[in-house]
Amino acid sequence: MFLTDEQKRMRDGERGEPVQVAMDMLCALGEIYGAEKLIPVKSAHCAGLSLKSHGIAGMKWAEDMAAKGARVVVPTTMNVIGVDRSRDLGLPKDWTEHQLRIEKAYEDMGCFGTSSCVPYYYSFLPKFGEHIAWAESSAVVFTNSVLGARDNREGGPSAWAAGITGFTPYYGLHLDENRTGDILFKVTVPLNGIADYGAVGSYVGKLTGEKIPVFDGLGHPSTEELVYFGAALASSGGVALFHAIGITPEAPDLETVFRGKKYEVVELGAKELEQGYANLTSGKSRDVDFVALGCPHCSLAQVAELAKMLEGKHVKEGVTMWIHTNMAVKAMAEQLGYRKMIEDAGAVLTQDLCVVLSNPEALGFKTLATHSPKMAFYAPGGNSLNTWYGSEERCVQAALTGRWEW
Ligand code: F3S
Repeated sequence: MFLTDEQKRMRDGERGEPVQVAMDMLCALGEIYGAEKLIPVKSAHCAGLSLKSHGIAGMKWAEDMAAKGARVVVPTTMNVIGVDRSRDLGLPKDWTEHQLRIEKAYEDMGCFGTSSCVPYYYSFLPKFGEHIAWAESSAVVFTNSVLGARDNREGGPSAWAAGITGFTPYYGLHLDENRTGDILFKVTVPLNGIADYGAVGSYVGKLTGEKIPVFDGLGHPSTEELVYFGAALASSGGVALFHAIGITPEAPDLETVFRGKKYEVVELGAKELEQGYANLTSGKSRDVDFVALGCPHCSLAQVAELAKMLEGKHVKEGVTMWIHTNMAVKAMAEQLGYRKMIEDAGAVLTQDLCVVLSNPEALGFKTLATHSPKMAFYAPGGNSLNTWYGSEERCVQAALTGRWEW
């Protein structure tokens, strides 16, 4: 891989050990994927920051890099962590302490302690055509598909290395020729709400793996529906980019998306939608003791909608309800009274954390209800939770009654 003289000096240690370590990572990645060179990035997003992903060894490594002077050179945001920094949710003390040490190490390196998988909702919004190095699969698929930024599905270490050096290897989705569609999905069933979009995304993700799906007839999704749709494609499959004809910026028509390539056509109707729901449901007992919403983190509009659904009601005794968001949205929800409405109803509006990357299993929950296709995909294996998947209305009902009905 070609390196400029400056990049060679960085790799040879002229700017200290952390930059050298980061350059070694990027060069290794570039060699593996056949990149011709390194290109500058405008921003990075570090993921894998929970204690579950980092472990104690990763925590010590991050502290060591920070102590040796590692500092990011482009705006670098941080993904969710495994605790809520604003309150004690009863998670084990050593878990919390180690998690906070990871957060601090990255903040010491100059990263923004955003602790969220949706930094694009506030301030950190990549532009069309901009090269970035973001990890967190749900964010990558959104920035690539909906915003038209150029991003590979980075891992935590390679996103960190890009933040430290300002470079990433030039391969994969950074090249226009790798952004053409592979399969056309004709959507013939109307989709209503986040759970429908998540179910279809999950069905398609399982079919396509890492191919680039193209959708025709996706309706008029809201931003939040596109976020959850992308999260489903990225978790059930390895999708990092999708196109929706007439909706996403690189997909004005079929000709532009496929560029003369031959493609398979698959129809998505009511049967496939139903199968998508079934794929995400592993619940056996209908007695629900845990309801978790906001994966990816809720927008302010979602928080407001949930607050209105819960107003004047109360979560059933014995049921825990967490609504996940980030500190920015929580601060707005506080000012606007939504947090009070939610917490008067006995639910909790959390910041920073998510169920999948936290440790809710330590609290003894058995059966989860969620509207999140990504959480429903990971929670049965990662958190040992039987899971019911459905709309916000169904999840709120489950929180109020302790039962998953329908
Ligand atoms: Fe975000 Fe955690 Fe879900 S990182 S997308 S809330 S699994």
